[in-house]
Amino acid sequence: MLANCEKINFFSGEEIPLEMHKARMVQRIFLPTAERRLEVLKEGGFNTFLLPNREVFLDMLTDSGVNAMSEAQYAAMMLADDSYAGSQTFYRLAETLGELFGTKYFLPAHQGRACENILANAYVGEGRVTIMNYHFTTTKAHITRLGGRVLEALADDALESASDNPFKGNFDLGKLEKMVAEAGVDNVAFVRLEAGTNLIGGQPVSMANMRAVSAFCRKRGLLLVFDASLLADNLYFIKTREAAEAHRSLAEIVLEIGSLMDISYFSGRKLGCARGGGLITSSAEHYEKMRGLVTLYEGFLTYGGMSVREMEAMNVGLKETLDFQVINQTPIFVAALGRELVARGLPVITPFGGLGCHVDAGAFLAHVPQEQYPAGALAAAVYLTGGIRGMERGTLSEQRGPDGRETMAQMELVRLAVPKRVFTLSQLKFVADRLAWLHKNRELVGGLEFEEEPESLRFFFGRLRPKGDWPERLLERFLRDMPSGV
Ligand code: F0G
Repeated sequence: MLANCEKINFFSGEEIPLEMHKARMVQRIFLPTAERRLEVLKEGGFNTFLLPNREVFLDMLTDSGVNAMSEAQYAAMMLADDSYAGSQTFYRLAETLGELFGTKYFLPAHQGRACENILANAYVGEGRVTIMNYHFTTTKAHITRLGGRVLEALADDALESASDNPFKGNFDLGKLEKMVAEAGVDNVAFVRLEAGTNLIGGQPVSMANMRAVSAFCRKRGLLLVFDASLLADNLYFIKTREAAEAHRSLAEIVLEIGSLMDISYFSGRKLGCARGGGLITSSAEHYEKMRGLVTLYEGFLTYGGMSVREMEAMNVGLKETLDFQVINQTPIFVAALGRELVARGLPVITPFGGLGCHVDAGAFLAHVPQEQYPAGALAAAVYLTGGIRGMERGTLSEQRGPDGRETMAQMELVRLAVPKRVFTLSQLKFVADRLAWLHKNRELVGGLEFEEEPESLRFFFGRLRPKGDWPERLLERFLRDMPSGV
């Protein structure tokens, strides 16, 4: 029998996440001085998406496409079959997906949002409604671009930042039923279940809830679409938080999830720890409806815009999703960072979720009004404080309404992503230390305003400026407390 690293006790009693792998290849990283960090922020329009990675010490922007791959994944890349049509690589990957989810058809696409584009083009139309537990930025943008409406049926307490609800991502079936009744079954393009959720702090959906949503949709003939991008973390939470599932193997759980959904899609930049994506279904009708869109937007049906090397890496990465010691690596390190932050009195989303540690910027910077983007300001201040790049997940990540008015986010979060097997515990302790300093000096941080605001997905490349000279004053305080300047 092999040990489960979570069962290993430390004699000291400390709760420490333990890696069940070792580093055999590393990337040198650099920490610019605090003065340089302020210059970089100005050059990047106070938007962490616009910072060159050379100037970033710890890149916690995302786990997308930046998880550390295994030696088996790298080895598989050497066996890729580079043919335009009928590549062996495609058949290997399709077979793995079929084995894992029990589905018949696989449509490859270059990443998650490409799948969303295909889904939106196939099923969304002017005024048609999609109902989801919660939206994701790119999903919503594809749907609203085609005139579709997005409704969310999340439980009321899902947006409470401090909670002990183990499955805050669950659908509220009462709300779902009401929304379907109001829209009319024929006007619902599809119901979309995202597990785990992204924008509400990587919070999971329970197996019981997935079953209930599936039964609800089947009874009414509603199409159920599953976003499996964050499934690896969600599987970990099903195994560890849902007593009825604890005895089941990951393979059994994934197979059942596959059987509950009509169409599943995923970002292979997350699930499978490579780069790419795809859609799977057992329905010939849905397969045929989407097939032409793959060849139109992505590439031929046997590569869908992906490099065959990435497809091979994804094939192995997907199989490794069934290894508990692989999928636990993000959640246990997120929890370790979360515990460090909570111990220092910082407002963090609890229970700790997947994907990354989510800081409640609304509480952290309670003095910054929401229209001055507190989460954006906090993300900029975190970079200034430690060369740490997080991501704004708040009002900046929303789109303005058709009348030009701001859509205020329901949560103002800064996400510190914890890609799999990338950071060490001492690096996470550095993050906690710098954030604690920032929290102590939070009254110095002010808001932001747009200098240049793109119409769509503005958070990606919009440029902002600080309201007042708070970055200079924060730097001055930092240099007083950390005379070494780093
Ligand atoms: N769905 C979810 C739940 C996601 O988290 C993402 C991406 C997508 C779809 C889109 O996939 O990036 O491959 O096109 N999330 C990334 C993130 C961008 O940083 O959280 P993609």
